[in-house]
Amino acid sequence: MLKKIILVAGARPNFMKIAPIYKALAATKRYQPILLHTGQHYDEKMSKIFFEELGMPEPDIYLGVGSGSHAEQTAKIMVEFEKVLQKEVPDLVMVVGDVNSTLACSIVAAKLLVPVAHVEAGLRSYDRTMPEEINRIVTDSISDLLFVSEPSGIYNLMKEGVPDEKVFFVGNVMIDSLAAHIHKANESKILEQLNLKPKTYTLVTLHRPSNVDEKSSLEKILRIFDAISKKSKIVFPIHPRTKKMLEQFGLMETVNRIGVQLIEPQGYIEFLKLMKEAQLVLTDSGGVQEETTVLQVPCLTMRENTERPITIEVGTNLLVGTDEAEVIDAAMKVLSGKVKKGLIPEKWDGRAAERIVAQLDEIFKSWD
Ligand code: UD1
Ligand code: UDP
Repeated sequence: MLKKIILVAGARPNFMKIAPIYKALAATKRYQPILLHTGQHYDEKMSKIFFEELGMPEPDIYLGVGSGSHAEQTAKIMVEFEKVLQKEVPDLVMVVGDVNSTLACSIVAAKLLVPVAHVEAGLRSYDRTMPEEINRIVTDSISDLLFVSEPSGIYNLMKEGVPDEKVFFVGNVMIDSLAAHIHKANESKILEQLNLKPKTYTLVTLHRPSNVDEKSSLEKILRIFDAISKKSKIVFPIHPRTKKMLEQFGLMETVNRIGVQLIEPQGYIEFLKLMKEAQLVLTDSGGVQEETTVLQVPCLTMRENTERPITIEVGTNLLVGTDEAEVIDAAMKVLSGKVKKGLIPEKWDGRAAERIVAQLDEIFKSWD
């Protein structure tokens, strides 16, 4: 009998993590992977485009929950996912990352006594004002298998008393997707389409509530843009949350006056190319910190903390905080050629999904 595994995805960063696992499981013929999309993200540019570009089939199950407050969104996913689990009775539920879909589905599975595997377990920012930190802590505490992407994950789980037998250092599945698609990205014509020259622009992604949900924070970010844009063109594929807030606070005119090249959220291939050719990346995204590390592109993370310390310890990432003068100073250093050299973290080699499947083979043998 094939082992039935429900793979949960809901928001943009989940798709790049799920795709390699789905393919590796399907290739074995020992597993029946079922692709479930909660519908947390639903715009074409935040969802469908990734299924196409990552070569995944349409989801087998779509919950269509959409946006809402944390409680509304989490609860809606839980109610719908419970029905799915009762019907499908899988051997395992696999969740990735730290979004509300991760939290909701892991809780439902644990309560129905379906084993839960968490991919990207153990990451901690130690900042409980971040919704993702709550999702990480809860998900890890109820997961049966914890697949870890970097050494800090092993250490954090050990500190929390998670038994070693549940923890597997497999590497970073997001980098599996990068490795599989970088050749296609190299051929992308997105720079020409946007009229950009390599290494002449600063690529920005900002969407954390702590950066974009208050008018004063957004105004500060716009002053930072103004300073940077004197030296380097700012290209900003804007997240729907950030767009909504800029509009709500009446700040779109300022964005245009500064000359920011505001573009829609990009497809994965296009975004990889934009990252690879950027002079500087300014971000608060988790995934972008990891991808710039592998691409060895200078990255400034506009946050007070990161749950991905390996990108700082060995990678090209610098945690610059949110102080205006400090962010501008750090950006100017990079733009004047003072860049941090980086190394590739251990097991970020494009084979993490393969390692996960090898571990699952062993684990199912021991469970049978
Ligand atoms: C979510 C994740 C965050 C992740 C980010 C990746 C949680 C708690 N947050 O944040 O960890 O870094 O995704 O991108 O799970 N919206 C649209 N169209 C969409 C999706 C969202 O317009 O397809 C707008 C809606 O106004 C929505 C807002 O964006 O209210 C926020 O969406 P939500 O999924 O709640 O959180 P994100 O900020 O996207
Ligand atoms: N990404 C993308 N298009 C964009 C912005 C980001 O394809 O316009 C990709 C990026 O390469 C990475 C992932 O989306 O693979 C990161 O997602 P996001 O920043 O939304 O979430 P986070 O990682 O912060 O949770």
